[in-house]
Amino acid sequence: MLASSCQLFIPFKNHMDKMLIVGGVPLRGTIPINGAKNAALPLMALGLLSDQPLVLDNVPTLADLTTMELLLSEIGSVIKRVGKKVAIYTPSIKSFEAPYDIVRKMRASILVLGPLLARCGRAHVSLPGGCAIGARPVNFHIDGLRALGATIEIENGYICANVPGGKLTGAEYTFPNISVTGAENMILAASLARGETCLKNVAIEPEIGDLLDCLQAMGVQVEGKGTPTVRIQGTESLSGAFHKVMPDRIEAGTYIAAAIITCGEVELENINISLLPTFVDALRNAGATIEPLENDKIYVSMSGKIGPLSIETSPFPGLATDLQAQLMALLSVSSGESVIVENIFENRFMHVCELARMGAQISVSGNRAHVTGVEHLSGTSVMATDLRASTSLVIAGLAARGETIVSRLYHIDRGYESIEKKLSECGAIIKRVREGEAHTASGTNKKIAG
Ligand code: EPU
Repeated sequence: MLASSCQLFIPFKNHMDKMLIVGGVPLRGTIPINGAKNAALPLMALGLLSDQPLVLDNVPTLADLTTMELLLSEIGSVIKRVGKKVAIYTPSIKSFEAPYDIVRKMRASILVLGPLLARCGRAHVSLPGGCAIGARPVNFHIDGLRALGATIEIENGYICANVPGGKLTGAEYTFPNISVTGAENMILAASLARGETCLKNVAIEPEIGDLLDCLQAMGVQVEGKGTPTVRIQGTESLSGAFHKVMPDRIEAGTYIAAAIITCGEVELENINISLLPTFVDALRNAGATIEPLENDKIYVSMSGKIGPLSIETSPFPGLATDLQAQLMALLSVSSGESVIVENIFENRFMHVCELARMGAQISVSGNRAHVTGVEHLSGTSVMATDLRASTSLVIAGLAARGETIVSRLYHIDRGYESIEKKLSECGAIIKRVREGEAHTASGTNKKIAG
């Protein structure tokens, strides 16, 4: 059934693409929400645990998922994508290594560590290092896998891990702090371990529930889904499965913010409001209308200015750190003074300076940003610094007066499929411009600044 890995789909465009936006148009229309990047990544890594095919549906076309496809195929998976379906078939493991060149592109590559140790008792995975939003250590992943019996040394920037005797053994591990991929790595490793693993203080992000659902479909016994204590009975082998990836709550939250900042009226398809509890409550309190509709749809509308908010990021069900930048763009034109506290990552305010270039009034002290709503933002050239920061600039551009040019679009392509198409179908004046092309968003020729 499966063709060779040379069929990998590499859809990504020039690294130097820019996005041109002419602000001020209220979004009106329907926006389909994709499957979640952060659910698809661990689900793809799960494909390493079985010698039977795992078929995932609702997989978006994103640079990060292409990176994971590449990594898995180097390890030994045969991967075929047809539309939104990705089949992963790993008859055997050919390489134990996640090389630096791949891990440096995408930190979530660390998710192959647990599966490699569980399936073949050996792994050599580059340390991800820090990134634009923080130091992001992986000590919980390492300590947790040691608790399951792995011997792990750090050598020359690599996590060098072995399992004496070849098979991990179930154990109890308490996470010192909530970690999403830490929990996923442990859950994946525990699935092929001998006996029961009990994980405590586990992240309850919905993407972890999605992973547990798929594991159950592959024959693993799981208790405690959606709670901080998860028990997994390790099994000898995992069967194949077909699994539909859950909706992307961060993509949905991003379009909700875009609709509100433009005083628009949109419906989001394929998304459930319960995936965004704190975000939706906060925006409703600030004056937005956000209602569930039938058949996994959400209605969003706004007239006038959004009110100010005092809000902090925290693990689920709190406000996702992955929506903090988008919320900040929105609050930069609110009717008052807002406070946003970032509790998850120590350096996730890189978008502040770029928003300030558009006229936002934001002062930062430690992990606290004070946002004074301004009458309007004004378009200019800005630079994306990370995935979510880049969409905050797009959101700001949709509301700004004049033309905004967002450069370093490769950040957006890591996590948002066809963002310009989805927004322009709702009336936004937005256009991707390739390097060397010189157009305005409205189509007239003009030299691009910056
Ligand atoms: N942490 C440690 N040690 C560890 C692991 C985490 O100290 O071993 C700390 C981190 O430094 C951070 C906090 O714990 O301060 C939470 O980090 P977590 O491990 O939960 O983050 P992650 O698993 O690396 C995932 C998402 C991120 C999202 C965070 C928080 C994926 C692939 N990535 O990262 O998504 O921001 O959880 O919800 O699921 C994004 O999509 O833009 C993105 C960054």
